Amino acid sequence: MDEFTRAAAKRLTTRPPYDYQQISVRPLTPVIGAEVSGIDLSRKPSEEQLAELRHAFLTHHVLVFRDQRLTPSDHKRFARCFGELRRQQRAAGDDRDPEILDIRADQDSTFVDGNDWHTDGTADAEPSLGSMLYMTEPPAIGSGGDTMFANMHLAYEMLSPTMRGFLDGLTAVHDGLAPWKGYPPPADYVVPKSEHPVVARHPDTGRRLLFVNPGFTTHIVGLSAEESRALLDLLFNLVATKPLLSCRVHWTPNTLVFWDNRCTQHHAIWDYYPHSRYGQRVTINGSRPTA
Ligand code: SIN
Repeated sequence: MDEFTRAAAKRLTTRPPYDYQQISVRPLTPVIGAEVSGIDLSRKPSEEQLAELRHAFLTHHVLVFRDQRLTPSDHKRFARCFGELRRQQRAAGDDRDPEILDIRADQDSTFVDGNDWHTDGTADAEPSLGSMLYMTEPPAIGSGGDTMFANMHLAYEMLSPTMRGFLDGLTAVHDGLAPWKGYPPPADYVVPKSEHPVVARHPDTGRRLLFVNPGFTTHIVGLSAEESRALLDLLFNLVATKPLLSCRVHWTPNTLVFWDNRCTQHHAIWDYYPHSRYGQRVTINGSRPTA
């Protein structure tokens, strides 16, 4: 581990202890993820519980709640505690709930949502605050189908000061066509495309983070195509090659995971084919990232 990474990991994990009274919080790694227990999400959380959940969310970025029995309305009510819900674009005549996205894979799948490092919805002008995936049917084989999450504060902080200085002030294009990987999206899909700072500040904590991801970021503004590719590959490879940045969540039936899209990337690992996996995701609206 190089000196910058060691210093960054120490800086990020040195924080005063927090005395949770309403919930129990068990970190998954020092830098990202925590399992939360002592709360039933099928009931409206109290203000005291919400304050502690917010604190845990801003500290650990990914919260895992096990053994929750939730209806779609419970799921949406809990998500609304953190903001308005995003409405999915739906084709005319599709009468599924626009606030709920099915996450489904089975033996007929040729493609699975999220099977690559990405951050949900960064091509939107106002990318989302976070997502909540409620997994009712993890792969029946009993293993596989985990989701990895990476801490993009640490990804930024582990860079040398010279590289950080170079990145500060740059912007990058996030293109909603990128995940389609050359396949045409549905005819009535309005493709989002936005320019965001490469280094953004978390709106709640003010801390800096690397806001590019291989799912949506296509190029860095003001660089040649070759320079942009080389730099993006370097930044994308940080997440792909440094396990220190990430945690891995194993799904058991009725687990809800709430992650912060403003400072994490995730990768849903499709290693369970031909088994199936099913869950429902809701996404919470966010704001335009600032440099
Ligand atoms: C997603 O990318 O939002 C899906 C995550 C998952 O299936 O684990």
